[in-house]
Amino acid sequence: MQKGILMKFGHFDDQAKEYVITTPHTPLPWINYLGSENFFGLISNTGGGYSFYRDAKLQRLLRFRYNEVGGDIGGRFTYIKEKGEKAWSPAFLPCKTELDSYKCHHGLGYTVFESSKNKISATSTHFVPMGENCEIQRITLTNNSNETKELSLYGAVEWCLWNAVDDSTNFQRNLNIAEVEIEDNVIYHKTEYRERRDHYAFFGSNVKADGYDTDRNTFIGQFNTWENPSLVTQRKSGNSEAHGWYPIACQRFDITLKPEESRTIIFVIGYGQNPVEKKFIKPGIIRKDTAIRIMDKFKTEKAVSNELKKIALHWESLLSKYQVSSDDEKMNRMVNIWNQYQCMVTFNMSRSASYFETGTGRGMGFRDSCQDILGFVHLIPTRARERIIDIASIQNEDGSTSHQYQPLTKRGNDEIGSGFNDDPLWLIAAVGAYIRETGDYSILDEPTPFKNEKGSEKPLFEHLRASIHFTMKNRGPHGLPLIGRADWNDCLNLNCFSETPGESFQTVQNYDSGKAESVFIAGMFVKYGKEYAEIARRRGEQEEATKVEQAVSEITKATMTAGWDGEWFLRAYDAFEHKVGSNECSEGKIYIEPQGFCSLAGIGKDEGFIEKSMDSVRKHLLGEYGVELLSPCYTTYHKELGEISSYPPGYKENGSIFCHNNPWISIGETVIGRGANAWDIYKRICPAYLEDQSEIHQTEPYVYSQTIAARSSFANGSAKNSWLTGTAAWTFVNISQAILGIKPDFDGLRIEPCIPPTLKQFSIIREYRGSIYNIHVVNKTQNTNEPSQPQLKVDGKSVKGTLIPCSTTKKTCTVEVEV
Ligand code: BGC
Ligand code: NOJ
Repeated sequence: MQKGILMKFGHFDDQAKEYVITTPHTPLPWINYLGSENFFGLISNTGGGYSFYRDAKLQRLLRFRYNEVGGDIGGRFTYIKEKGEKAWSPAFLPCKTELDSYKCHHGLGYTVFESSKNKISATSTHFVPMGENCEIQRITLTNNSNETKELSLYGAVEWCLWNAVDDSTNFQRNLNIAEVEIEDNVIYHKTEYRERRDHYAFFGSNVKADGYDTDRNTFIGQFNTWENPSLVTQRKSGNSEAHGWYPIACQRFDITLKPEESRTIIFVIGYGQNPVEKKFIKPGIIRKDTAIRIMDKFKTEKAVSNELKKIALHWESLLSKYQVSSDDEKMNRMVNIWNQYQCMVTFNMSRSASYFETGTGRGMGFRDSCQDILGFVHLIPTRARERIIDIASIQNEDGSTSHQYQPLTKRGNDEIGSGFNDDPLWLIAAVGAYIRETGDYSILDEPTPFKNEKGSEKPLFEHLRASIHFTMKNRGPHGLPLIGRADWNDCLNLNCFSETPGESFQTVQNYDSGKAESVFIAGMFVKYGKEYAEIARRRGEQEEATKVEQAVSEITKATMTAGWDGEWFLRAYDAFEHKVGSNECSEGKIYIEPQGFCSLAGIGKDEGFIEKSMDSVRKHLLGEYGVELLSPCYTTYHKELGEISSYPPGYKENGSIFCHNNPWISIGETVIGRGANAWDIYKRICPAYLEDQSEIHQTEPYVYSQTIAARSSFANGSAKNSWLTGTAAWTFVNISQAILGIKPDFDGLRIEPCIPPTLKQFSIIREYRGSIYNIHVVNKTQNTNEPSQPQLKVDGKSVKGTLIPCSTTKKTCTVEVEV
């Protein structure tokens, strides 16, 4: 760390598309994700983390202890033990032996540790190959000294007993059930396979080990920890077989390295599944075909290198759909690499598994997953389409919807239930984005069940209809939409009234007022009501479109009267029809969400509402590190407001910089042409611009975090909850569409940059509906915040307006833009 000069802990390598961390002593574990199909791993810069198959709660392979003290000691462990020396780990943990050199390269879908100690260097590469349910670790040791070195390499994993919640609670049962099999170079974790499971996990190596262990107590020894297992200290193995207690898989290799000699070992952590009727090959002996095939496939270094190349090519092709080149290298790297990568990760994980989400709580969120699609759809539209159908399938016939579902069962999560009244409208956002990207209207005809009930299938469009009418039907005393349990802000619980410690604010509703209204949902309705009407009209449903447009103008009007506070949009009316987010309130006078959403929906644009709202945001909510959620923060608990006031001031929903809705403000600024302001907000929360302040910011400089403590907190600028946040998708929408101005529309690509004068020119390559657009924008604006009309030349010819209709576009198309 370069303390005092720059508070950096690494650097970007844009060529390699990596962030290279140069010390294990980062402020927090800085992690990466492996895999993007069915098998996933989380891996930190000190080697912590875990892997799972499809569902981080129900099919967890490796054990990880959240809340662990002493660093993030995860499910995979590597030890290098030279005779007479202290053992060390290439990732620093678990041994904590100071290394002579250390680097961790987090790349797209892989992580590489390069480190050395006592003139032995180790390069350990971790990834999940495409199309396979396994994780590879390829480790190469090299002797850089001029004497022969004798050492032992240990690779180990600690098994989780599948259900991660049960694994950490149900010890009276679990300490009796572990079972393993050991065959060739593979250790099989077959706990519960004897009964109802037809899947197993395995840990193998490409060459024969010199010793193994499967029983944790034998390996670690009494009073030791993963930091210093007694058998590693002794350079031995116990060849133990686990029966109950704590099953692990560990392999030891005794290696002699002459000067300059290298040796590579490939470890595989895998998942195999069998047809129920063929699970055993002999009584008690499991069928191992999958493991054997996978072990065989990855037994050579060449095979492993090829798989890594495939991943690189895969990402190359995904990212090629949107590439910008400008003088601002920080923006370039975020747009071209990291923001899109994070969109993939949020799409895959929703809000389930990160270093802040345990993988055991929330599954896929209805609103979260819908919003994730906004930033993901251009990458793999077919997967977005499938996801949309999955999400819509949990909806109820009246348009309301379960708030979450488990990825494995795809059924609505009954514990949380429904009642979050913003949820239904997000479905329209996702479907609209899908159609704008692909032009594929057939999705609207896709038979999609309600509540996942067979026989209840109706065309997807009927789900959109149910969504929009749900809001129309559920309006309160001021004609604004009712909030229900909560809207986007899970913590603004206006019908909750909880007085019991520990009670969940998300599920309890002690006061069914039928009155509390949300100005935020009003903004959403105006935005997505227009989107829905457009879609309906294109399906020939004129009458329906007109009816909804009528409701849009009613709600617009209600927002501009009952929803307007004079200088900004109100937040809500509570259960007693008192204002929330008004100058009349003593705390929580102004909230960010309605400023963002009502502005981006264009409410009151001609009447100057948006300007006022945006100016108020800058005046009351803008801090050095971004726009705060509300001000002033609540200093006491208000049971009529719910969880929001349960947080100390400046944290989370009680007025932190909740990054997710910062892009709404930025987009709101572009609606009135204020490019400089939009850019200013974009930059404040963008992690690449905060890299030099990593000691303050704390979380990874290559991804967005959900929340940054605000000025009123005790840690202004320090972020938490990195990776799994709607910030990823919304920021990508903001920068790629609102600021740089490349907007997928129903009939083609619209080009409407809204940029600061400092961005003099830039080029974008955009792949869209089978054509490649080479776009070059020249910025002649002098004024920072004045709207300007872009002039377009398409293939050399001036065109009117800003739309390039798909019908006129060739395979490649050159667009010159002047603003
Ligand atoms: C958090 C919210 C989150 C909610 C649901 C709350 O404690 O503050 O950000 O959405 O829980 O899990
Ligand atoms: C995080 C949740 O995942 C998201 O759905 C919600 O909108 C925000 N918290 C704000 O409460």
